[in-house]
Amino acid sequence: MKEGTTLLYTTETLGDRVSKYSESISVTVPQKLRDYHARIFKDRDDSNYMISTFESQALIFLGRMIGAKRVLEIGVYVGFSAMIWSHAVGPQGKVTGLEYDEEYSELALKAAKENGYDNIEIHTGDAAETLPKLAYPDEPYDIVFIDANKTAYPGYLAKILEMSQPGAKKRLVRQGGIIAADNALRRGLVADSSSDNPWLPADFATGWEGSAVAAIRKYNKAAAENSRLETFMVPLWDGLNLARLVD
Ligand SMILES: C[S@@+](CC[C@H](N)C(=O)[O-])C[C@H]1O[C@@H](n2cnc3c(N)ncnc32)[C@H](O)[C@@H]1O
Repeated sequence: MKEGTTLLYTTETLGDRVSKYSESISVTVPQKLRDYHARIFKDRDDSNYMISTFESQALIFLGRMIGAKRVLEIGVYVGFSAMIWSHAVGPQGKVTGLEYDEEYSELALKAAKENGYDNIEIHTGDAAETLPKLAYPDEPYDIVFIDANKTAYPGYLAKILEMSQPGAKKRLVRQGGIIAADNALRRGLVADSSSDNPWLPADFATGWEGSAVAAIRKYNKAAAENSRLETFMVPLWDGLNLARLVD
């Protein structure tokens, strides 16, 4: 048993059982949100955009752990993770979403209304444009969750840091806030894009996946090397890069 590696559970069956067990003893997800996740999974071809319910438990735990009241989410899709954040921060908190696609924004807001989460607002458009224009909140965000177009991750990080200057009266993210980036390992391709990785696509060198992986590598490196941040890469799900804003 190599306890220092992620290779503890070497068969799929064992990995599944350990995951299910871990889910069963972790903080709960409201049943209505589990139902929403299951319905989207059943009804929509693009449902793999959503984080898993297991990952959503980690996000609820993270939000509660740092007493988060304000969350900014980049990449909302049909609102599952936004509602998870809304649940995590509670009715006194606030969730701001940035989403490119108008149809997704509408579906997300409809779902939020139907499920009783009325503290979610969404700005529709390219986050590269809506993020810099975002009015500084009265209180800075405690968490930014980045889960949108991968090639823009490095730009989002640079902009978030620029808008969160130490000592500034108005800033986007508070000192001690967390910037969490999803898909930060992309089926391991970020760490290993050799032919040893069974997920390597044939067109990796020229295709879309190669560009996404290059951008995520840039993001992970920029976060790790920035003295304003302390990072931890969670090698679960598709990889979750956690960065704490030190100043
Ligand atoms: C992986 S999905 C988000 C899933 C969501 N966080 C969840 O778990 O329920 C990525 C989303 O980012 C959106 N997106 C892609 N490019 C974007 C951009 N330039 N600006 C804002 N949103 C973008 C997509 O339309 C899509 O809805």
